[in-house]
Amino acid sequence: MRNRTILCFLFIGIFLHTTRADEGMWLPQLLSVLNESRMKSLGMKISAKDIYNTNTGSLKDAVVSFGGFCTGAVISSNGLVLTNHHCGFDAIQNHSTLDKNYIRDGFWAQTRADEIPNPGLFVTFIVRIDDVSREALRGLSPSMTESERQGLIDKNLAELTKNVKKESGQESFTRGFFEGNQYYLFVTETYRDVRLVGAPPSQIGNFGKDTDNWVWPRHTGDFSLFRIYASRDNKPAEYAPDNVPYTPKKSFDISMDGVEPGDFTFVFGFPGRTMQYLHSEAVRQILEVSDPAKIGIRERALKILDGFMREDEQVKIQYAAKYAGIQNSYKKWQGEVLGLNRAGAVGKKQKYEALFQQRVDADAGFRQRYGSLLNELSKGYESYEPYGLASDYYLEIISKIEMFTIASQLNSLVTAFEKGGENGYRQRLPVVKSNLENILGEFSGKVDRRMFEELMDMYVQQPGGYVSPLLKERLKAAGGNYINLSLTLYGQTSLFDMDQLNSLFARSAGETVEAIRRFEAVQLFVDLQKTYQSLVQSPSAEIQNRINRLQRDYMQAQLEVMKEKKFYPDANRTLRVTFGQVQGYSARNAVQYHYYTDLDGVMEKYKPGDYEFDVPEKLRALHAAKDFGPYGSEGVMPVCFIATNHTTGGNSGSPALDARGNLIGLNFDRAWEGTMSDIHYDASICRNIMVDIRYVLFIIDKYAGAGHLIREMKLVHPKKGPKKKKSKAGL
Ligand code: ARG
Ligand code: ASP
Repeated sequence: MRNRTILCFLFIGIFLHTTRADEGMWLPQLLSVLNESRMKSLGMKISAKDIYNTNTGSLKDAVVSFGGFCTGAVISSNGLVLTNHHCGFDAIQNHSTLDKNYIRDGFWAQTRADEIPNPGLFVTFIVRIDDVSREALRGLSPSMTESERQGLIDKNLAELTKNVKKESGQESFTRGFFEGNQYYLFVTETYRDVRLVGAPPSQIGNFGKDTDNWVWPRHTGDFSLFRIYASRDNKPAEYAPDNVPYTPKKSFDISMDGVEPGDFTFVFGFPGRTMQYLHSEAVRQILEVSDPAKIGIRERALKILDGFMREDEQVKIQYAAKYAGIQNSYKKWQGEVLGLNRAGAVGKKQKYEALFQQRVDADAGFRQRYGSLLNELSKGYESYEPYGLASDYYLEIISKIEMFTIASQLNSLVTAFEKGGENGYRQRLPVVKSNLENILGEFSGKVDRRMFEELMDMYVQQPGGYVSPLLKERLKAAGGNYINLSLTLYGQTSLFDMDQLNSLFARSAGETVEAIRRFEAVQLFVDLQKTYQSLVQSPSAEIQNRINRLQRDYMQAQLEVMKEKKFYPDANRTLRVTFGQVQGYSARNAVQYHYYTDLDGVMEKYKPGDYEFDVPEKLRALHAAKDFGPYGSEGVMPVCFIATNHTTGGNSGSPALDARGNLIGLNFDRAWEGTMSDIHYDASICRNIMVDIRYVLFIIDKYAGAGHLIREMKLVHPKKGPKKKKSKAGL
């Protein structure tokens, strides 16, 4: 018995040493089984139950999905929520006018009455997570087609959802994990009265903009503040002036003690999408085919936008957010290609597959079920390659040309009319109107025309030749000249004018639909879409289904065959915990990065008048006077830091927590060399970037003079508190 225990410890010792447990986006309800011991060995001082517990308040009750696209952290007993500046951006921008420019100047509500409601914005708490795999997969048989399988699962889940135990005001949804091998049910509480409380000027909140995006060292105060409002009985409620600040079950205490290298940290949030279990052939295609194509298209689009934005102030305002959005993925994909290459990700996957195959071949049962899996998967991806590339071309290009976005909105009215008659049309109309208002509110005809001319050329030149016949015809009629063609299309100016569109909508449904059909842009859009469906989507649907089934089997097979490995499901916008340590990294030969930045670094980057690197006067003055209040230490005002937490898009605004679950920072980005972590995580080089919570407090208090907000929060000194005796138990 003793010997066995010793052996067991030895084994665990080797295991801990060799596995990269820091990789992973873990389900919070499984931490106690899968991760607690590793987390403790890295320095965690609380238990998995403190993080996720459905009986009493736990840390998960202080984490929200912010609007479904970011994460937020509850930091006061009055429902104050902290998220990123780039997550709150839309809300901040929506309330900005020429003379009250909150993006440029920042915004700080002096009283509760000054807090601004944001129709459409919501935050969602996770009440409970249940494993419903058994119920979801009931009755499935291997002979079913993919659509039969999905149909039965949907039916099972619909049945299940009817009988979910939940309180009034609560909702629920289910989601597939591990490529649809497992299912979980989430009981949620969504609050829809979320008001803007504060935001720094973008010279702080988006300092360094595109140049610094995805890059360490970073000096951005990427945060904004909101407040959740509830009905008088603290329940979810639509906006009402007499709603009251929400009293959360839990809010984060805030550590004033900062971080040091090696400190344990974990990040709680809603990561969007990762692809950690792809076949090596799929990774090769991302690296060699898909990413380069998308990068090339966006490069062209960005160059066009940049040219116009530089010469026209109005265009600069209209296109700033769009430019940032296009640039964000454009830059990330370049980092991804670089990182996948440098890490030799394809080769590593192949090695892993070889080991998998070896084990499968060595076991009769495995061999029978999984023997040909990898081979089939690789063939599936090979035959999908041209279609994948064609999808990239179509989706990237069409989405950049706003004339087609407008055409698509209008065409949806035609479809609604065809399917649902006058009624269907009337139902759809308000949505279309409001979408068109949004699009045209930030539209420039000359910019979009140029986009059309250049990107359509790329579309026509695409490798597979999946090109719309109508486009070819029109182009020929225009003498092969895109400028002539765009002259005709953009010459139908009523398409781009809200007043004229509104008078069109004032006519009868039938008349409007007829008029919409006559727009050349709409006809062209419909043909582009049809071509894509008939030449790309339909012929590849069978391959795509086959790949889905094979990836699902491969996932299940890995769970069974690679027994020593701990698996976490790919990110899918559900609540996860990732953990690691505060740590610098070695970026490349002779380049070593420090783990934190400070205000001196902001001043090093300062370029007066520059649109990315200007620094507000008041911040410069606070720096010069070293007036950091209680937030700086020994003349240093920390700004950002990095750690080995495995994060992705959607983790923006995620609370970064210390060994005791106190808030130490706010996640907002990843470092350049490690942006391939969505596909291949490498602990030696992947780092998440967080703004130091003390910088957030410093900006709120010393810069903005909003000390009343600080007084709502609970500031703690976990490191400087009385030293605890080391306990011998619980090694
Ligand atoms: N890279 C960050 C994340 O993917 C976004 C940071 C926002 N800032 C910016 N300059 N675009 O979303
Ligand atoms: N910046 C990302 C976000 O907005 C986070 C990341 O991709 O690391 O969610």
